[in-house]
Amino acid sequence: MVDQRVRALPAVVPAQAIAPSGLLQDRRGRPLRDLRISVTDRCNFRCSYCMPKEIFDKDYQYLPHSALLTFEEITRLTQVFVAHGVRKVRLTGGEPLLRKNLEILIEQLAALRTADGAPLDLTLTTNGSLLTRKAASLKAAGLNRVTVSLDGLDDCVFRQMNDVDFPVADVLEGIAAARAAGLGTIKVNMVVKRGTNEHQILPMARHFRGSGIVLRFIEYMDVGATNGWRMDEVVPSAEVLQILQQEMPLVPLEASAPGETAERWGYAGPDGRHDPDLGEVGFISSVTQAFCGDCNRVRLSTEGKVYLCLFAHQGHDLRELLRGGASDADLASAVGAIWQGRDDRYSEIRAQLPPEARTASGRRIEMSYIGG
Ligand code: GTP
Ligand code: 5AD
Ligand code: SF4
Ligand code: SF4
Repeated sequence: MVDQRVRALPAVVPAQAIAPSGLLQDRRGRPLRDLRISVTDRCNFRCSYCMPKEIFDKDYQYLPHSALLTFEEITRLTQVFVAHGVRKVRLTGGEPLLRKNLEILIEQLAALRTADGAPLDLTLTTNGSLLTRKAASLKAAGLNRVTVSLDGLDDCVFRQMNDVDFPVADVLEGIAAARAAGLGTIKVNMVVKRGTNEHQILPMARHFRGSGIVLRFIEYMDVGATNGWRMDEVVPSAEVLQILQQEMPLVPLEASAPGETAERWGYAGPDGRHDPDLGEVGFISSVTQAFCGDCNRVRLSTEGKVYLCLFAHQGHDLRELLRGGASDADLASAVGAIWQGRDDRYSEIRAQLPPEARTASGRRIEMSYIGG
């Protein structure tokens, strides 16, 4: 296997400085708003669609500690991205709660302000396994909200999907702890895989309807190079919606922000209109209905590489620049140039790509490396 992590372009400071104005646009006119930071490439789960055991075994070479960005380095880079227009920051992994003292990073990020003085929308994606223990300290450090991954309520199905025999009850307890700690609107992400957990769609919907928690169904994606993705294992969102509608009527809702990943649908009350007490669900349909058109997301890997798309083959190495003594203005110029050169829209063009470009993806980054 080719190690995608060593393949990176150097980040270059352009001759003409690019001062941050918040108005940065890529080659398709898309602004930069959402920064996703991976803080570790490790995880205590082995979901087959993300970190299959055969590849991520005891011999798998994770990044050495010296390769990781320090909290100070992450915060400094985040400040640069914020100056360029980022308003939302998501911490991901692997499993971000495995990174030691993560609360210290959260405190630092929570102190940052946008150009108009607003705090960031600071959130985190987790498998929930450590939430019971950590929810209160995360909230105290300044985290606004969390998104928890949970692929089913049936204990057997879930233990099999996480492939480390982790029980559903502990994740539910983690979600309850997050709620008790006041961690904002909680979202639950469920990856739907045909033949594995599509019979969990209704039980999950019944469980979270009316709970204040937003359940989102994610189409299984051909991300990375190790999960053996096949189109026939994708359950299109249209099919999930149909399954739900048979029991629980839903009505479409407006997008809450431009470039959003999820299409929102609200549970209808007896009058056929959205009943806010029943809540809403989301559909993330990157396979059947790509949402690259407004994609304003940038990703920073654990070792300081910038990726412009979840399906990218190559990152831009900011760590070298950072550790080589670059000034904030240099870093801002380099980030500006990287974003201005962006043309990525993989999900949109997936269908037109030759099969070898879709499947022989030995060089694509892994979800566990870059986070969702
Ligand atoms: P909210 O701000 O809470 O709405 O979060 P979000 O939907 O922006 O982020 P989240 O990490 O919860 O995304 C949910 C899932 O959508 C991820 O786990 C991915 O599977 C998928 N996803 C997120 N961003 C992208 C993207 O840019 N492209 C594609 N193709 N999929 C994405
Ligand atoms: N397809 C769709 N979603 C995925 N995730 C990981 N791998 C995939 C994939 N192949 C999601 C997880 C989690 C987040 C980190 O990414 O379910 O919610
Ligand atoms: Fe599963 Fe998330 Fe861990 Fe990947 S990072 S193995 S999706 S828990
Ligand atoms: Fe953005 Fe790439 Fe996802 Fe399209 S496939 S939405 S460009 S990250």
